[in-house]
Amino acid sequence: MALNGAFSHLVVECSDLERSEAFYRDVIGLDVLGRNLVADNRPNSLLAMNTRQRLLLVEVDDVPSYPASGGSIHHAWLLTIEQFKQARDRLEATGYESGIDPRQSFRAVGEYNMDIHDPDGNRFQIQAFGEEGTEALRSGTGTVVMGHIDDFPVGSVTPYRKGRFFLVREDAGFLAISSWCTHKNGITIWQKESWHFYCPFHGAKFDRTGCYHGRMGCAPMRLNPVQVDGAGRVVVDTDRFFAREAYGPEQAVPARPGAQFDPAGLTELPARDEKETRESARMEG
Ligand code: FES
Repeated sequence: MALNGAFSHLVVECSDLERSEAFYRDVIGLDVLGRNLVADNRPNSLLAMNTRQRLLLVEVDDVPSYPASGGSIHHAWLLTIEQFKQARDRLEATGYESGIDPRQSFRAVGEYNMDIHDPDGNRFQIQAFGEEGTEALRSGTGTVVMGHIDDFPVGSVTPYRKGRFFLVREDAGFLAISSWCTHKNGITIWQKESWHFYCPFHGAKFDRTGCYHGRMGCAPMRLNPVQVDGAGRVVVDTDRFFAREAYGPEQAVPARPGAQFDPAGLTELPARDEKETRESARMEG
């Protein structure tokens, strides 16, 4: 079925039309178009979003209650970062406690969320994604010596959590794959049982060379440069990041003393400090 860009309208049941209309007008910021404009014999009010979509409030005798312990039934609005900040300010100005995010510890870097409830307890999520969600982030661990080449058999994947990378040993040599997900900077994990990197934030999967498989169209995971020093130790530079369009064996650094990372055909990315980015996001988000 071909969709024409977006959904048309949302119908929300309420127990007190006057009260809910005021909430969606004054707190959420929607425009009231009028009462009883649709073919429903129950009292209703039609409100407009600035995206041509509509929200219809229908007054009913019994609004199903939202489980107090949480649950997954909700609606979500996706805003720009500026709109998100305006919404937060408006919520606070109207007496709502904003910034409540029950899943905050599961958010990717640059992913912002507020959870609010309307007067009948219907849950709304307000979301935004900042540009830091797609930028390369330095872990602050600098250059890391991982061990001798013989410590890493072909096929091994060694996570180095603090440095935010995985050391992968291919036939062709070593890859240091940045563990930041290229969708929105979630932290991926290595799932040994199924031989892929998995991002629990929105479910992206990448193969052992860091290439994405799925419908979200994510770029391959970024590379940190690797070198093998004269003593045969594998050294990873966690301050530099290279983007690529696909995997090629020339990206792997051969397992012999003195071998160097070859950036030909790759794009070096500017990087931000992870800690500073997280702190500034907390202050401004
Ligand atoms: S951050 Fe969205 S799937 Fe990884």
